[in-house]
Amino acid sequence: THILQPYAPHHRPLLHFAPHRNWINDPNGLVFLNGQYHLFFQHNPYGTDWGHMSWGHAVSKDLLHWEERPVALAEDDTTMIFSGCCVLDANNTSGFGTVDGPALIALYTGHHHDSGLQTQNLAYSLDEGQSWTRYGVVLDEGIPDFRDPKVFWHEKTRCWIMAVVLAAHHQVVFYASQNLKSWEKRSVFGPEGHTGGIWEVPELLELQDDAGESHWVLKVDLNPGGPFGGSGCQYFVGQFDGWSFTSTQEARWLDHGKDFYAAITFANLQDRTVWLGWMNNWEYARNHVQGEYSGVMSLPREIRLQRTADGLILCQTPIREWEEVWRALPCQQELLVKADQEHDLLVLPEAALDLQAHFVGTEQSILGIAFSVAGQLEWTLEFDVPDRKVTVSRQGSIEQSGFQGEHSAPLESVEQHVRLIVDHSTLEVFLNDGKQVFTEVFFPPQGESRLSLYTRSGQVKVQVFAVRGPQH
Ligand code: FRU
Repeated sequence: THILQPYAPHHRPLLHFAPHRNWINDPNGLVFLNGQYHLFFQHNPYGTDWGHMSWGHAVSKDLLHWEERPVALAEDDTTMIFSGCCVLDANNTSGFGTVDGPALIALYTGHHHDSGLQTQNLAYSLDEGQSWTRYGVVLDEGIPDFRDPKVFWHEKTRCWIMAVVLAAHHQVVFYASQNLKSWEKRSVFGPEGHTGGIWEVPELLELQDDAGESHWVLKVDLNPGGPFGGSGCQYFVGQFDGWSFTSTQEARWLDHGKDFYAAITFANLQDRTVWLGWMNNWEYARNHVQGEYSGVMSLPREIRLQRTADGLILCQTPIREWEEVWRALPCQQELLVKADQEHDLLVLPEAALDLQAHFVGTEQSILGIAFSVAGQLEWTLEFDVPDRKVTVSRQGSIEQSGFQGEHSAPLESVEQHVRLIVDHSTLEVFLNDGKQVFTEVFFPPQGESRLSLYTRSGQVKVQVFAVRGPQH
């Protein structure tokens, strides 16, 4: 067996953001501004482990090709720069810019070295995030575990609303402001839903369902207490009246894989809601710090709500820009996989592909997709109709506790629409238009990759719509 180092050079994804070097965790301050997407992120500029937390910075025109920029907000003698958000102050409510030249405002958590206390701080930029002026603390309750502000403009009540966690209390607190500088507490949500770990990185957002009706969603991550151990992500669907959020449904898990954390949406987008998350799990993130860099972001995903018999579900699909990259690869389009058969579908020079397929099974069908690299089985995705579950099983060569194992979700039908995207060390599975998503990292050896289909019982009709791979 190979001794493998995570985040080796050949693990570097082609179209997912990863830093040139050193550690990253949460995405921060995502914002669209003058034709450019800005991605700030939790970053240790000095090493591949967590520490010296600062905001790194990268920009992109298409959300897929990223250019890293110098660190935007660096740790100073007293304070680390923890997670937070950016807003464009278009009406100059803060007075830091002008209506013609609005300020980009960052609201982030200052983690104070000596006291361990956490405050919400403000910095602004008048040059599209290149240089920042620190205004200072805008919200101080004299407590620790108070962090990750996410702010939006609430048009109905004409004020800024901030969601921020009391991490150890499993609570999200909502504050309101007219000018982003003075904040007034409005309400507290929680504890509710999953509380098996501290709560982090909340976001309250308005989303439309497929009938055009609007709802409020509160997303909040937790660590540990996730569905497969370590960290995870839940959401509540409900109502928000400008003062308080009430959930009208049970909490749901957002992702059925193990590596989607701390997602936030892009501010200042008009026609769609897009977010991305850190593809990692706090259970093992800090064990994987041997390479040049550590950490990768998920693909940006468009999110929406869908009505189902089971209530409203948050669906995630790859952003439309994704359809423009990579090129079609030849592949058999229709096949019937009979009971206990195996069928090689694709052999590729590297571990990178985007597959869309439709499966029609029977009540007996157990169909799997197996992915191996350089002859080594990395993961399988198995649809088990008799057991009514769909499972990603990570088998690869990283034998760390919590890394290998099975991650399952309920299987609702013998028919499945499957999209899977592999980018060297990332796997994202979108089932049935994003109603179920599995986000997983894996660290294969270098070499040829092979995708095959197998059945363990029943037969399955497979229709392959599209296979695409990198344009080299
Ligand atoms: C979530 C988190 C945040 C915090 C940041 C520190 O992953 O723990 O709560 O602001 O990371 O890096």
